[in-house]
Amino acid sequence: MARTVTVAVLFSGRGSNLENLIKRFHGKEFGDKRVAIAPISNRPDAPGIELAKAHGIEAAVVDHKRFPNRESFDEALVSKLEEISPELVVMAGFMRIVTDTFTSRIDAINLHPSLLPLFKGANAIEESFKSGMKVGGVTVHRVDSTLDGGEILDQRCVRIEEDDTLESFREKIHKTEHELLPDVVAKLLRLSE
Ligand code: GRF
Repeated sequence: MARTVTVAVLFSGRGSNLENLIKRFHGKEFGDKRVAIAPISNRPDAPGIELAKAHGIEAAVVDHKRFPNRESFDEALVSKLEEISPELVVMAGFMRIVTDTFTSRIDAINLHPSLLPLFKGANAIEESFKSGMKVGGVTVHRVDSTLDGGEILDQRCVRIEEDDTLESFREKIHKTEHELLPDVVAKLLRLSE
């Protein structure tokens, strides 16, 4: 019988990467493993919650606004994760910087829409596009308590063509994210189709 391997996905908004992971892995068997995706949002109004629901998955919510500081929020997030006890924790569009309270107890990976260490932070796509570089890209890295720091696990380039607009570049970045993140997850969990 297949044993369940749980992937916790932390997100804050749209949730397209969450949905992509659900479609690719949730409820599917890979050899002797069956994958379960467990979404957690820090925003009770994140559109990704409805997306998960449409796939029959109830997202947990740990609302950061209900905590007086980063540490107490991280403490609650860690407790939720310890309850779920996932094999892998993935941040996909999770717009919070975590503290040592989190990183000392949880190993997580994060998806970022640039070729790190270039263009850290929330405006990475726009900054890449306006940089004059001919390539941007996406990165999956381990999480530490620095902004978009941590060991780089994998990256993929996206060309910036003469006729690209910020919007067309953004779309290419998201498409590439939807390819790279599942590949890294599959590799880390040793899932073979
Ligand atoms: C992605 O571009 C991710 O790299 C960034 O936030 C975006 C989240 O998109 N950190 P979505 O919520 O998965 O659609």
